[in-house]
Amino acid sequence: MTATVGTGLGKVILLGEHAVVYGHPALAGALALGVRVRVEPAPQPRVVVPAWGLAVDDGAAVAAIAAIAAALGRTGSFAVHADATVPSRAGLGSSAALCVAVARALGAADDAATEAAAQAGEQVFHGNPSGIDVALATRGGLGLFSRGSGFTPLALPSFALVIGLSGEPRDTAARVADVARQRTSRPAETDRLLGELGALAVAGAGAHDATGLGPLLDRAHELLAQLGLTTPTLDRLCALARAAGAHGAKLTGAGGGGAVLALAPGREEAIAAAWRADGFTAFIVDVGAA
Ligand code: PMV
Repeated sequence: MTATVGTGLGKVILLGEHAVVYGHPALAGALALGVRVRVEPAPQPRVVVPAWGLAVDDGAAVAAIAAIAAALGRTGSFAVHADATVPSRAGLGSSAALCVAVARALGAADDAATEAAAQAGEQVFHGNPSGIDVALATRGGLGLFSRGSGFTPLALPSFALVIGLSGEPRDTAARVADVARQRTSRPAETDRLLGELGALAVAGAGAHDATGLGPLLDRAHELLAQLGLTTPTLDRLCALARAAGAHGAKLTGAGGGGAVLALAPGREEAIAAAWRADGFTAFIVDVGAA
């Protein structure tokens, strides 16, 4: 049997991370970065992603591929070789991009089958993720996602964002567990914060331009900070971006490390330069890619 190929896109959550776990909407866009895989049946499972320094024959990545194959009714083991342009472990949907690419290469018939199979792989990596990453990795574009309604695309043109990497490791399942604990220890306050984060996502979907969206990003970062999800490094990245002219900046994804996004039409290079001058990795990327 010959090798087959598939692709999946990275994503960025503009507004609504963590809130989306509790049924609130999140606003997110696919990145013009992703993963392309080549998959072939093999006597022993293997996953190789040179860009992520990954070359394994057991562990989470191998178990995720097996879960995707099982969801699609495929038997046997597979060797996966992936070319990745999205960075890993930064909250940019790299694992979902990999899972979607593999689901497609293994013959998922359509977007719905791709999402279902890829979500089985994501559960190996992240426990019980909301599904926002696989929706964007599969469908591309920009839209509102909620656990109840799935992905609702927004007919908006793609736009540039600046992404800065803190270099701090990130653990989505642990941060989601932190928020769950806060919902037990201080339920009213935590639900108020999550509710406002979800409302910001809806407001963001209706924002007309960067002047409207920017303050919503700043406010979301404050709320995520109140949930204990920021770090001094993430705060510093946001402060540098604002000082360099961003309309808004926030952590994106689970927090506790990972990436910051900044919205700064016409000032993208200045933001990236400010971050790089401070030793951070920064790049400019189109969001809303299909
Ligand atoms: O894993 P990340 O960093 O892309 O973030 C996931 C977003 C959360 O809302 C925190 C979790 C989820 O399952 O949606």
